[in-house]
Amino acid sequence: MTRLTPKEAMLMAVEEGRKGAGHVSPNPLVGCVILDHEYHLLAKGYHARLGDLHAETAALAQVTDPTRLEGAHVFVTLEPCAHDGRQPACAKTLAALPIASVTYGVRDPNPLVSGQGEAILQAAGKQVILFGELRDELEELAEIFLLNMREGRPFVAVKVASSLDGRIALRDGSSRWITGPAARERVHYLRGCYDAVLTGAGTLLKDNPRLDARDPRFAGRARRLVVLDPQGRAAAAWPGSKAAEARPPEDVFWLTGKGMRAPEGTHHLELSLSKDGVFDIDEMLARLRAEGMHSVFVEAGARTVGGFLRAKRVDRLYLFLAPKLLGEGLGWTSGFEIASLPQAVSLASSRWSAVGGDFLISARPVFT
Ligand SMILES: NC(=O)c1ccc[n+]([C@@H]2O[C@H](COP(=O)([O-])OP(=O)(O)OC[C@H]3O[C@@H](n4cnc5c(N)ncnc54)[C@H](OP(=O)(O)O)[C@@H]3O)[C@@H](O)[C@H]2O)c1
Repeated sequence: MTRLTPKEAMLMAVEEGRKGAGHVSPNPLVGCVILDHEYHLLAKGYHARLGDLHAETAALAQVTDPTRLEGAHVFVTLEPCAHDGRQPACAKTLAALPIASVTYGVRDPNPLVSGQGEAILQAAGKQVILFGELRDELEELAEIFLLNMREGRPFVAVKVASSLDGRIALRDGSSRWITGPAARERVHYLRGCYDAVLTGAGTLLKDNPRLDARDPRFAGRARRLVVLDPQGRAAAAWPGSKAAEARPPEDVFWLTGKGMRAPEGTHHLELSLSKDGVFDIDEMLARLRAEGMHSVFVEAGARTVGGFLRAKRVDRLYLFLAPKLLGEGLGWTSGFEIASLPQAVSLASSRWSAVGGDFLISARPVFT
């Protein structure tokens, strides 16, 4: 039996945690790996569903021989919880076991937990270690939850499917398809990882997209859809559209200016409009949060994406780049301008991968 290093164990815990994506909101994604006293793999687990076992207890449930917990080492991506909620407090559960140490990845910013999980374990004589490596992986795993806690607003992910020269559509608006089938399949998975998909009136009218999550991991789960339609100009086209057929109206949040119309049966949220006819992004996000949305996946044209960029409210960017040039056309940042080069938005923790014949950059934009 091979021994795992702490780094290998924590990386495995991160991979476990990812399996809960799209199923645990508003809870964080958490993974856990338990090694025996000689660092052999004993069990692993993750928080799979809201209300279900936490990662630590899910991993403990996999331990077939409890005597091997003597002197064991627990690796968990987030500080074990200290309060009894839908599940009993994990710190107390771990404290009662004959384990030697608990290594955790990120301190829980939740004031009900922060530092207290660690204190419970220390009081029980366990060695508690805040892991010093894999910062990007660990923060990214819990990023929705961490941002919700730290900033009190929904997390915003933006997806763009672009040519190498930054075009998301031709001048006539055609955009289907710029990227290949594998990239589009990945987008189905990503949509399912967030509480709602958000789009603009322009995309609904131009593309008539379904914007659902056709990925087996989300089978049978309707996705919420948020539509930005300040003048109510897309409302008439809604009945019979593919997006309307894909979900019941109660899963649709239609955002308009005051006194504008929204399709029947949808949640109609009326927001104030600036003199340029746009919503204030922070006000919009606060309204979505009040409706129970902790994260949104923006899939829209440049006008919507530009609004989020101008407001500095893009927390993750998924940029699918097709290795082709489209020449003159619609750029995805065209609604966004910076005054000088030092104000350029840089991308932190960016990861590149090939998805079919396309590239995917996943990164955290850093606004100055
Ligand atoms: N390749 C890709 O990844 C991709 C993805 C989606 C769309 N597209 C392409 O993008 C093109 C459509 O671009 P678009 O910019 O017109 O579409 P859009 O961004 O989907 O919709 C723009 C409209 O949404 C409303 N809106 C957006 N942000 C708002 C805000 N902050 N406040 C109030 N209203 C807001 C406005 O409606 P009003 O005009 O009524 O004021 C705005 O004109 C299409 O050709 C489509 O194929 C490409």
